[in-house]
This record gives sequence, C-alpha cells and structure tokens, in this order.
Amino acid sequence: MLNASGESFAKIILIGEHAVVYGQPAIALPVKTIRLTATITPRTDGQQLITSTFYRGSLQAAATSAFAGIAHLLRALLTFFGARQQGFDLKITSALPPERGMGSSAATATAVVRAMYQAFATPLAHATLLRWTAISEKLLHGNPSGLDAATTSATRPQWFVRNQAPHAIAFPTNGSLVIADTGIPGQTKAAVAAVASRLQQAPATNQPRLAAIGQAVRQAALALAADDLVKLGAQLNTAQTQLAALGVSTPALDRLIQAARTAGALGAKLTGSGLGGCMIALATDHTAAETIAQALTQAGATAVWQYDFVQSEEQQ
Ligand code: PMV
Repeated sequence: MLNASGESFAKIILIGEHAVVYGQPAIALPVKTIRLTATITPRTDGQQLITSTFYRGSLQAAATSAFAGIAHLLRALLTFFGARQQGFDLKITSALPPERGMGSSAATATAVVRAMYQAFATPLAHATLLRWTAISEKLLHGNPSGLDAATTSATRPQWFVRNQAPHAIAFPTNGSLVIADTGIPGQTKAAVAAVASRLQQAPATNQPRLAAIGQAVRQAALALAADDLVKLGAQLNTAQTQLAALGVSTPALDRLIQAARTAGALGAKLTGSGLGGCMIALATDHTAAETIAQALTQAGATAVWQYDFVQSEEQQ
C-alpha cells in the first residue's frame, strides 16, 4: 500500500430530484469550491483507523456507526485488493455540510474509492468508480438513483438518467445560483420512502407529478442551451410546486423559497431529498445573487453559498 489521496466535490441538484429515482432525467452540478479529500497513510502495526467529522475510531467499530456505509465499502475494497489485514490511517477532510442534500455521503465514497485505487497503484475507470460508490449509497439510501455519486465525481454539470452513463451538459456563462441551508438535516431515506408510499397509495395523482418534473427538466435543458434564465427559473418553480405536492418540502424550505422569490430570484426550489436540507435560487447575475443571499440570511438560512454559472466551465 502507498500513501494516497482522493478528492471529490459537493453537488447540487438543479432540477429533477425524486423523479430521477423513477427514470426521469435530472440536471446536477459539482460545486468545485466545496471539496472533500480522503488521505490514506499505510500503518505497519495492522491497525485500521478512520478520522472524519462524523466518525473517529477503528474500521471494525464503524460497522455500527453513522459511518457504516463507508465502512462496508472500505471492507469490500480491501477484499478486492487482497489486503484485509493491511493497516492504515484514513483521514477525511470535508467542507461539505453532512445531510444537507449536498452529496456528503456520495462525495465521501468517491474520494475513498479514488484514494484506495491510488494506494494500490491501480487505474480507475469512471464506470468502475460509480459501481463502487453504489455499494455505500445503497446501504444509506435504500434506492439511490446514482445521481449523487455521478455528480460528486464529475467536474462539469451533468445530465443524468438512471442506469445510463451520465454526460456533461453546458451551462450559460451568465446566471448565478444561491444555495441556502435551512439548518435542518435532510432525510434522504425517509423522503425517498415517503414519495414511494404516495405513489403506491395514489398512483393516478402522483405519477403525473413525477412526469411533470421530468418535463420541467427537459424544458430546463432547453433553457440552458438557449441562455434563457427566465425560462429556467420558471422550470425551477414548476419543479418546486410538484415536489411540495409530493410532500417533501417543509415550512422552513417554503419560507426560504418565498424569501428568495421576493428578493428577485427568477426561480427557487428545494435541492436534494427535501424534508430539511438546502434550497437553491436562480439569479440573473452575481450582484442579484448577493441581494438574494442577504435576504436568505435574514430569513433564517444558517449558511449561504453562491455559485456563478461561469464556474461550471472553469477547470479546478
Ligand atoms: O438528498 P440527496 O442530496 O442525497 O439527494 C437525493 C436525491 C433523490 O433524487 C431524492 C434520491 C436519489 O437517489 O436520486
């Protein structure tokens, strides 16, 4: 085993969450200014130790912790490399807030897989990376679409359809997003299960909602290609209406979304699973985004980030 490190980014779902679980497309983007790094240092005493914000201790004890998904992935990787007994220190440094719909778990898995492959001097194809990250995501989410892992491992905005290879999608150079945190943990597993149960109980009402989200995603892609931010904003609002009808918005999210619209946002919606977590607002430019960011802080957001679309084309 060699000294190694792997990196990944925060992700934001622009549009398409929940419907993407049922085969509709989604658009998501890596936020390259919010990074996560996994560093592996071999140990000669056989101890397998992990240091991260939400778990500190041995790999063995991690099986019953919030880190269980990543621990399971790590064991599978060690088995794959024939190194079950190999000692190491794994350190995870993250600027991503956990459980906020920014892809913290997928970003951790991505960086860990990259670091392990580097530690064993093995080239890693992107499709292989996505197969590995699905292991921990499945344990955490139940029925993950794979969108999180695809985006936290990408450098460009992604057009994603479940069970298809994701591909990069071009963004306009103007336009800016404000991302705001309600301060309340999102609940991906519960939210995905809530939508599933609504679908089962009232398919005739809820299937069209998912289809409407899919349609909004396709229109959003056209708006992005045409540099039409007003149309893009309208699609974000449509998606939010449908997500609220599916029961995954909350009063805290609704309050921030309303505050952003009042402050001039072209559109605003929750991002990620909902039931807490973050929302996004679309602004015409960086200055308009700053005004919206201020309004969101005043409305109670616990953290605010800005993402100018021009960033999507920049190299890291
Ligand atoms: O809350 P997050 O960032 O893990 O996003 C979940 C996105 C969903 O569409 C709700 C689920 C999925 O697996 O795509």
